[in-house]
Amino acid sequence: MKELRGLQFCVRTFGCQMNKHDSERVAGMLEALGAFEVLKPEDADIVVFMTCCVREAADVRLLGQVASLKNLPIRAAAEDGRRGAQRATPAKKRVIAVGGCIGQRDGALLVKQLPHIDVVFGTHTIAHLPQLLAAAYVGEGAQVEVLADSVALAEGIARATDLPTHREQHWHAWLPLMTGCNNFCSYCIVPYVRGREQSRPFEEIVAEAQRLAQEGVLEITLLGQNVNSYGRDLYGKPRFAEALRAVGESGIQRLRFATSHPKDLSAETIAAFAETPTVMPQLHLPVQSGSDAVLKAMNRNYTVAHYRALIDAVREATAAQGREVALSTDIIVGFPGETERDFEGTLELVRAVGYAQAFTFIYSRREGTPAADLADDTPHEVIQERFDRLVKLVQESAYEQNAVELERVLPVLFEGTSKRDAGILTGRSPKNQTVHAALPPGSSAEDFAGTIRDVRITETRTWYLRGDLT
Ligand code: SAH
Ligand code: SF4
Ligand code: F3S
Repeated sequence: MKELRGLQFCVRTFGCQMNKHDSERVAGMLEALGAFEVLKPEDADIVVFMTCCVREAADVRLLGQVASLKNLPIRAAAEDGRRGAQRATPAKKRVIAVGGCIGQRDGALLVKQLPHIDVVFGTHTIAHLPQLLAAAYVGEGAQVEVLADSVALAEGIARATDLPTHREQHWHAWLPLMTGCNNFCSYCIVPYVRGREQSRPFEEIVAEAQRLAQEGVLEITLLGQNVNSYGRDLYGKPRFAEALRAVGESGIQRLRFATSHPKDLSAETIAAFAETPTVMPQLHLPVQSGSDAVLKAMNRNYTVAHYRALIDAVREATAAQGREVALSTDIIVGFPGETERDFEGTLELVRAVGYAQAFTFIYSRREGTPAADLADDTPHEVIQERFDRLVKLVQESAYEQNAVELERVLPVLFEGTSKRDAGILTGRSPKNQTVHAALPPGSSAEDFAGTIRDVRITETRTWYLRGDLT
């Protein structure tokens, strides 16, 4: 597609890892057509927003960012082309594209709301983005293509998982097992904007993991809204445990995955998690609430007791392998009808589990979801106060979980230097803790990025560890 050759593009990503993965495919596709990626929108002829609508705050941010681009001139030369980009053609105009989950949800409405948006695409039409951009760039007016997943499938539109990719970091790759979600938690918009679960063939996933390992990728993160049900639509039964073992043995060093739904976390998966040495000892298991009544209203299909039994089983299975596990979760505060007593159940659960990390959210009403019709008279101040109490407890828990690492030597996968201090290396421990270590004098950060080195921990904080390279 010659219209895009030599143009500079910038991708802005919001939301979850699935969006980050999709953004890497957008970048891969545009680069394959001869465009160059730049990091700042002011350098770009094409700005692509990969949006999220899981909570209201994300919608508001998008509108602000798109509006602020309207009158921003295009700089003559890129300051920070990732691959030393040279502008081949003089800058003419800027094309603004909005994709991802807001694109999927709002479609043509977006162009009405913000007329300077040139292209709207959805979660199932990423493969058509180049045509849409090219048409907009040559002046054919606003281009909108948003399709239901069943229609996209029937029309044979390639899925994001089949497009070329440009990995953000050469040592890490996202590997989607599946797209979509079948769970319809009553508060959640995701199933409406991502469609139904569609698993990728098992052999395709294993082959991709092996290829990535050969290319030098050290760490793979398997992706899905509910990885535990991977394979159910294709094979009649989930094959996630098998996938963990097979990808774990593909030649990579570190395997992570997100996200696990507690209702589908099987004994086989817990065994594969604990027994596969490359699977990192970190489990993100969103609980959402510590009250059975709220879990029922959320349509989560498990009880607090079941969740706690799962945590015990995971701890036991990892301990049997001589490993410790770091647990993390997602919690929603202020679901319609949540009482003080329900909330205390959440606090009690957080205390009992001992999370290394918890992502806490105030309930956000999403139009079109079943919970949007539920009445609630809990004042906002009460919800905010509960939220603050929860955050404090989570911080205490995170601090305690990190404190055990003092004096230990941990293998750290370095990512680069700290944003605030170029003399500090930053990386991740097996438990996914952020670890800082001083860059040795005379060496460069590039020597460390994408390598695993031992670090002796000398200081533990709530959100990071600090130590010395050994
Ligand atoms: N599929 C994953 C993650 C989905 S979105 C899972 O099931 O865990 C990530 C998190 O956002 C959810 O776990 C939930 O805690 C939160 N979330 C989703 N919808 C929300 C809403 N309407 N209001 C507040 N938080 C929400
Ligand atoms: Fe949303 Fe529930 Fe699906 Fe997660 S499992 S994406 S919270 S509907
Ligand atoms: Fe957001 Fe879409 Fe992910 S709504 S959380 S970007 S699936």
